[in-house]
Amino acid sequence: MYRATSLLVSGVVLAGLSAGFLLADEASSEKTGKPSKAAIERTRKTVRMLDDVYKTAVVLITDKYVHDENDFPAGSAAIALFGEVEKKGWHGVRLIDVSGQPYDPENVAKDDFEKDAVRQLRDGKDYVEKVVEKDGKPALRAMTPIPVVMQKCVMCHPHYADAKKGAAVGAISYTLTIE
Ligand code: HEC
Repeated sequence: MYRATSLLVSGVVLAGLSAGFLLADEASSEKTGKPSKAAIERTRKTVRMLDDVYKTAVVLITDKYVHDENDFPAGSAAIALFGEVEKKGWHGVRLIDVSGQPYDPENVAKDDFEKDAVRQLRDGKDYVEKVVEKDGKPALRAMTPIPVVMQKCVMCHPHYADAKKGAAVGAISYTLTIE
């Protein structure tokens, strides 16, 4: 009898705990519609992962495949990839200029978040983010800096030679739904 009762009690406690966990883990609070801290942190982690994957790919392509100015630049490959990623609805991602002299005038900060984030990256911040609402859903806007990571970058972007070591010359801008 004692064992049956204690089993029952632990069952109820476990069910209560997991219900509490599920509630705490919901993307947004029903009361305020604001995303939970846990959901924002999960999205932030996805941004960190994507940022590392994209930047590692650009450096690898530049290192292994780009030998002179006429080769297809990793930046152009990234822009083509980002277009496909966005078209398929995975997330928003843009490669933009921070140096003030974009190779392509299209690749610049466009909306208020991006313009403000570029200013902050120029001031030396290494990450900028903002929780916004997009199409009625919470979303994370985030921006990460791109410094001159290798000498080869200067081959096609000569003005990068004037950039301070480690300073942002470019950035990647992300928009991810907070789920
Ligand atoms: C072979 C020439 C070449 C090399 C090498 C190169 N880029 Fe680019 N980069 C380009 C071109 C061309 C564009 C414009 C791409 C487009 O709009 O399709 C561009 C675009 C960019 C942009 C977007 C802003 C802008 O200027 O249009 C950034 C940021 C960037 N490159 C950074 C880098 C970094 C960092 C490196 C070194 C890892 C690098 N690039 C190496 C040719 C190059």
